[in-house]
Amino acid sequence: MGDKNIILTGDRPTGRLHLGHYVGSLKRRVELQNSGKYDDIYILIADDQALTDNADNPRKIRDNIVNVVLDYLSVGIDPKKTTICVQSALPALHALTFYYTNLVTTARLSRNPTVKSEIQMRGFAEEGLPTGFFIYPVSQAADITAFNANVVPVGEDQLPMLEQAREIVEKFNRIYGETLVLPTAMIPENEMQRRLPGVDGKAKMSKSLGNCIYLSDDSKTVKKQVNGRMFTDPTHLQITDPGHTEGNVVFTYLDALCNDGHFAEYLPEYANLEEMKEHYRRGGLGDGTCKKFLINILEETLSPIRAERAKWEADIDSVYDIIKEGTEKAIETTNETLARVRKAMKIDYFEDRSIIGEWKELLKH
Ligand code: TRP
Repeated sequence: MGDKNIILTGDRPTGRLHLGHYVGSLKRRVELQNSGKYDDIYILIADDQALTDNADNPRKIRDNIVNVVLDYLSVGIDPKKTTICVQSALPALHALTFYYTNLVTTARLSRNPTVKSEIQMRGFAEEGLPTGFFIYPVSQAADITAFNANVVPVGEDQLPMLEQAREIVEKFNRIYGETLVLPTAMIPENEMQRRLPGVDGKAKMSKSLGNCIYLSDDSKTVKKQVNGRMFTDPTHLQITDPGHTEGNVVFTYLDALCNDGHFAEYLPEYANLEEMKEHYRRGGLGDGTCKKFLINILEETLSPIRAERAKWEADIDSVYDIIKEGTEKAIETTNETLARVRKAMKIDYFEDRSIIGEWKELLKH
């Protein structure tokens, strides 16, 4: 324990994955997977976590498990190198969650900024807050620790979850002795990649806002989202007007996605993004040209992903076997951690009969 490099990441299967997931996390996961630097890499399909705010709609979760796995496979997650598993099939996670809830106060949970904003977004402030949703950061700590993960690559919004997990680990180890691995968050270096806004400039891509570009969208849909919905600079009325690149979604996406090679290929007038931005700020560069460039980059990024998805879609039996086998491996890993936790907590009564001797000693008078 603790001397291995182990990665865990996860996603809630509530919909297809989008470009925000790709630049914020998926791309990095594939690079890490192929770096050869990790002893084990797990991806958790967090269906239990998804149920904490979808208790009335289990169908949605069930249906989206396949979508999310297809998205993983199509971006290059290789099941030979990365174990893909399903949370609800890992009973050790439930037990760990239950023990960890004792180490976290309700006041602490109430301060979690990501949960706070999610409570607002979902209307739980008015309707009432499901307990399961309130404590999902604890269950996420169970996910992370159960796999002995020391590295957790996530988007910026997940930092409070990692902070919570670290606190639980520190408290657990303090009370029960060194047992759990302390995890570290790994977030994208490129600031724009940490939090890609929706095409309309809203902070988050969300299905209900219709401001997403999904990895599985066809070319026509992507073009429509960029040309029809992508927010630019409302003060840039004429091409010759000086423009703003900050808060301009086209440039935010370019910041997140483009490299100098893209300029050589699609927009050789500029050597790099800085030169292009300068022209836009000066005036004389139209939104149409910028959008066209972005569409080219999006196509280059998404077309191999689409092709790979089509292959896997034609072989759903294999997709099923991949997550079944991954889950079987994950059951073993997480059960081992639970056994270690129970031992540390001295509640492993039925692992051996030595407790009988202790009891007898205790009852001697
Ligand atoms: N909360 C994460 C999200 O919404 C999903 C998740 C669940 C997760 N368990 C995890 C991420 C463990 C990293 C590690 O994206």
